[in-house]
Amino acid sequence: MTEQKKTAVIGQPIEHSLSPVIHNFWINKKKINAAPYEKIEVSPNNFNKSLDKLINSNYYGLNVTVPLKELAYSKCDELTQTAKKTKSANTLIFRDGKIHGTNTDPVGFEVSLHKEIIEKNIKNKKCLVLGAGGSARSIVFALNQMSADVSIFNRTQEKAIKLCKDLGVGANVLEEEDMKKQTDSFDFIVNTTSLGLVPDETNNLIDFSSVQKKAFVYDLIYEPKESSFLQQAKANGIRFQNGLKMLIGQAAAAFYVWHNTDPSHFSELESLLEKL
Ligand code: ATR
Repeated sequence: MTEQKKTAVIGQPIEHSLSPVIHNFWINKKKINAAPYEKIEVSPNNFNKSLDKLINSNYYGLNVTVPLKELAYSKCDELTQTAKKTKSANTLIFRDGKIHGTNTDPVGFEVSLHKEIIEKNIKNKKCLVLGAGGSARSIVFALNQMSADVSIFNRTQEKAIKLCKDLGVGANVLEEEDMKKQTDSFDFIVNTTSLGLVPDETNNLIDFSSVQKKAFVYDLIYEPKESSFLQQAKANGIRFQNGLKMLIGQAAAAFYVWHNTDPSHFSELESLLEKL
């Protein structure tokens, strides 16, 4: 019998990761010959040691989450173009004695969007990205691929400037005052900051009373299901979406990398995750 493929997600904290639920759901549905997908706590300080240990324990592939995606990128021997551009690797595969890395977050974001939203709110439209951290890199990369006219606002402006330089994307980096003046001009607004992750923390970066009613608002946060950011969009009658479909989308692309088959039963999985 061939050895079962071993996969897991690494990060810190990892306790609340939904990746095991997602991957094990598909492993079961598709009857893949794989060991149960695990979650393993790895701190940045122990990253190198832990990775070597996992490789020596015959792991076939790993997902990498916060705060290890950049470290993972720097450890890879081979990288896809997307991982190279975003300087981030969220999916690793160990093959032929080499570490191969890719970043499935940009495609996860793109597939999470309804085609009509891409056509009417993103393609050649003004899109505002809030934040310039690790996730913003993937979002700006994906929006650029979808021919968006991207603006970025980040508390620390230099990080937004560096992000554009690294990605080779000519986005408009805005000061807070400019962003406020232009709020009514955006067709798509996406929050990539961590504001709103912690209960009782409110994301007040946008005055939603100034946002166009035809705009679309996206928050990468999926827990809480309706962040303070999305609640404000909702209260102003603006369409919105959380990050759950992106989480599933990035996982689907990783699943394909490891198992060479597309996952299925997306609606059933989404309902399952919403109930957790
Ligand atoms: P991730 O990998 O989830 O993107 P990150 O790389 O730590 O996490 O980035 C966090 C983002 O949230 C950054 O854009 C950060 O802004 P700074 O670059 O100025 O630090 C933003 N952020 C976090 N807390 C914030 C706050 N209280 N107000 C505004 N932005 C905040």
